[in-house]
Order: sequence, then C-alpha cells, then structure tokens
Amino acid sequence: MKEQIEEIKKNSMKEIEKAEDLKVLQEIKVKYLGKKGELTQVLRGMGKLSNDERPIIGKLVNEVRDILEEEFNKKEEKLKSEELQKRLETENIDVTEPSKKTELGSIHPITQIIKEVEEIFLGMGYQIADGPEVEKTFYNFDQLNAPEDHPSRDLQDTFYITDDIILRSQTSPVQARVMEKQKPPIKIICPGAVYRSDAVDATHSPVFHQVEGLVVDKNISMTDLKGTLEMFAKKCLGENTKIRFRPHHFPFTEPSAEADVSCFVCGGKGCKVCKGEGWIELLGCGMVHPNVLRNCGIDPNEYSGFAFGFGVERIAMAKFGIEDLRLLYENDVRFLKQF
Ligand code: DAH
Repeated sequence: MKEQIEEIKKNSMKEIEKAEDLKVLQEIKVKYLGKKGELTQVLRGMGKLSNDERPIIGKLVNEVRDILEEEFNKKEEKLKSEELQKRLETENIDVTEPSKKTELGSIHPITQIIKEVEEIFLGMGYQIADGPEVEKTFYNFDQLNAPEDHPSRDLQDTFYITDDIILRSQTSPVQARVMEKQKPPIKIICPGAVYRSDAVDATHSPVFHQVEGLVVDKNISMTDLKGTLEMFAKKCLGENTKIRFRPHHFPFTEPSAEADVSCFVCGGKGCKVCKGEGWIELLGCGMVHPNVLRNCGIDPNEYSGFAFGFGVERIAMAKFGIEDLRLLYENDVRFLKQF
C-alpha cells in the first residue's frame, strides 16, 4: 500500500507540473483528491489493514494529501497570475471611442433655496448651526416656554417616539441647544427637516423644511429684527420687496409677529401667487422670551435677542411658481430638471 501511495504522489506531482491551464488543473485535483479520487480510494481500503499498519498508512495518506493540496494551490496561483498577465498584454482600450453619456442631475429646488438663504445670512455674519431631527420634548417644547398643555404637543400634531422623544416639529429647539452651549453674541441660522403629523395634500406634508434664525446680544431690539428680515427679503425675493409685521403669538417670543412680504410676482397689486392679497405670509418671528433666555442660562437683564423661523417649501413654491407641494417630493426627473 505504501508503494501505491508513493506512486500516486509521484504521478500527481508530475501532472500538476504539466498542467497548462486552470481547467486541467481542476480536473487533476478531482482525479486525485476528489470524493472518488485515487487517494480517497486508498483511505477507503484501509479497513483491510492490520491494527499496526492502519495508523502508519493513515498518517502517510494525510501527509501526501497535505503536500498535494499545497502543490495545487501554488500551481493555481501561478496559472492565475499568468492568465492575468496574458490578458493585460492582449487587451487594449480604444481611447478614441466616444464615452457613454452620463446624465447630470440638478440641485433640488429645496436645496437651492437653503443654499441661497445660507449665502445671504453668511454674508450678514451669521453662523450655520445644526441639531438633531430626533429631538427631546425638553428642547422642542419645555426650553422654549411651551406649556404642558400647548396644542402643538398634541399626539395629533407631533410624532412621538417615546413620551419625551419626538421627531422635532420645528427647528426652534436648535435655538435652545445653541444658547446652552454658547454665550452671546450669538448669530445663527439653522436649516433642516421638521416633522408634523399632517395628511399629504397640495400644501401639507408630514416632512418639510424650515430655517431658524437666532440673534442674542446686548441691546438687540425689534428694529434689528425688522431690518434683518427686510434685508433678507430683498436679497432672496428681489430688491423691491417690502415687509410688514402682523401681531401673533408664539410661546418662545414676546412680542411675537408674523411677517409678510409684498408679492414679488405682481409687486403688490394682487395676482394668482398672492391670491389677490398683494402680500405673501413669510415667517414667524419675535423677541426671544425672557423665560427662554433664562432657561438656557442667559441673563435676560443683560441680553436680549430676536428669532425667526420660516418654511423653505413655501419660499421655493412662491419663487419657482410651484403650485403643488407634492411635486417637490415625488422626484420626477422631468419636474426636477426645470430648476
Ligand atoms: N417655530 C415656529 C413654527 O414652526 C416658527 C417660529 C416662530 C420660529 C417664531 C421662531 C420664532 O424662531 O421666533 O411655526
């Protein structure tokens, strides 16, 4: 039996040596090491051996198998690299052939507006802040002076993850997060997605975008707010844009206002875009409530501030003349290409 094994070893080594491609090599491997291979057959016949011989022959078979396996692997590596080398030598690329045309996308209208708004405020010395979309009720409501029974806390209006974790319903919590970390002067905007439990229609979506603004320093007054918003409106919507304030209520500002801009399509005469009003509602704003400053560790006797927040979709729709909000989320390339 020993001779038989040596014979198998000798023959197979010779064949491996001669093999010229991977397919032949694989066949040789099956012939010797496969389930019905020669070496395997030897193992099968071991039952006939005496108890003394069996371990000796067993050991030998295993040794030979290890050696053969190593030889196969080595040869396989060698053939593979030879094949690669051959391919590299014979293959060539025609660099003069015209390339496949790649379709270039365009920047989404919402992103365009956010970028534009960022540029305008960066130009006025603002920094861009960021905050989590999965937010604590503490920041979204408590720190912003929104009482326990405030309607926006309602399950119907806000997506709750747990009792005290929500998808932020506004970008305003970023105000509190910034004030906690940074002492005045503060001058930030924060663009981002917000979530509300609204059914989808032409003017509502459960996800939309806002830009929050916050300025805190000594002697900040309502005139600073108005001047800032006017500057922003002119830069974003056109030099002739006018702005007006209407009284309003927000828990985190006192006094609070809503700001409208004169219609930049008709200039205030009344048209389809402004629905005949001559004005378009733009944003919410006000002077930061002393409670909010205090909650965030800023002394309201020393500092004051203003804040504002507006919807990005609303501006995109007005500016680009988009009549249905849903178009902004369907991502139909035929629609998006127009901007
Ligand atoms: N967070 C408000 C909303 O979602 C918008 C807003 C109003 C933000 C007044 C402000 C503000 O910063 O001062 O309707």
